[in-house]
Amino acid sequence: MTRTIIITGASDGIGAAAARQLHAAGERVVIVGRNPAKTEAVGRELGADWHVADFAELDQVRTLAATLREAYPRIDVLANNAGGIFGDRTLTRDGFELTFQVNHLAGFLLTNLLIDRLIESEASIVQTSSLAAQRFSRFDIDDLQGERRYSASAAYGNAKLENILFTKELARRYGGDGISAAAFHPGAIASSFASTSTGAWRWMYTNPLASRLLTSVEVGGSRLAWLAAGTPGLDWQSGQYHANNKPAATSALAADPLLAQRLWKESAAMVGLAG
Ligand SMILES: NC(=O)c1ccc[n+]([C@@H]2O[C@H](COP(=O)([O-])OP(=O)(O)OC[C@H]3O[C@@H](n4cnc5c(N)ncnc54)[C@H](OP(=O)(O)O)[C@@H]3O)[C@@H](O)[C@H]2O)c1
Repeated sequence: MTRTIIITGASDGIGAAAARQLHAAGERVVIVGRNPAKTEAVGRELGADWHVADFAELDQVRTLAATLREAYPRIDVLANNAGGIFGDRTLTRDGFELTFQVNHLAGFLLTNLLIDRLIESEASIVQTSSLAAQRFSRFDIDDLQGERRYSASAAYGNAKLENILFTKELARRYGGDGISAAAFHPGAIASSFASTSTGAWRWMYTNPLASRLLTSVEVGGSRLAWLAAGTPGLDWQSGQYHANNKPAATSALAADPLLAQRLWKESAAMVGLAG
């Protein structure tokens, strides 16, 4: 039976590359992006369905979830890949710090709004995290909005650590219901990443000389495609963080189950879901 693989952030970069690879391997991919023209272009290229939502507005995530539920009676893989690093501290219309919302809270909400469908499908849920979780996070569960201390790097590192904590708590809560969850670092990838950031991040990813040190989007996409195409329990273990298609070390905080549970509860309260 053809599987259905939904990838957010699939209008560009790692998500688009993964969608192309999975499509070439015969999988049915569903493209989710923010920019309507870019999203449509990838959808048309692959003959795939496409959907548009800006994760900086949680109501758009709610509408997206309703559309996906209506359109897909099975969802075999949900890849929460949309994200990025930004600049000065900015609040969304929903009142949350932008990096936190786009990288973590929106994917948390989308997953929860689809959870019964994902359970029925015994789905894999994949989070595109980053080495930044280990390198740049200064995680404080009592300061999720970066009100006390903010830098673009730390906000990004924190959000990518939240992707791993979310993965672990998903595996703990729903492993018995057939859900598998994985997080991964795609590599330092030459994509549109950091194009709306500032300082060293923007320079690293947009300067032609510096960006020669980066790896191709095809390699980054292949890391996501490997998890999406793989069999949990056989190719990878649920609840793990991966780099280079194998389990990898990350921040020690990612191993704290109480922190993962607390993040879930706080996130659920923010989006109006039962914890
Ligand atoms: N590149 C790297 O070195 C690297 C390393 C580690 C982790 N990552 C992670 O990999 C993931 C993909 O990034 P990438 O490198 O492929 O960057 P990218 O080329 O900039 O792609 C980012 C994707 O996320 C979408 N997106 C961004 N903001 C969004 C929003 N507000 N609402 C909905 N979608 C939004 C973009 O949509 P539009 O293009 O339609 O606006 C695009 O499809 C991100 O989670 C990133 O943090 C990247």
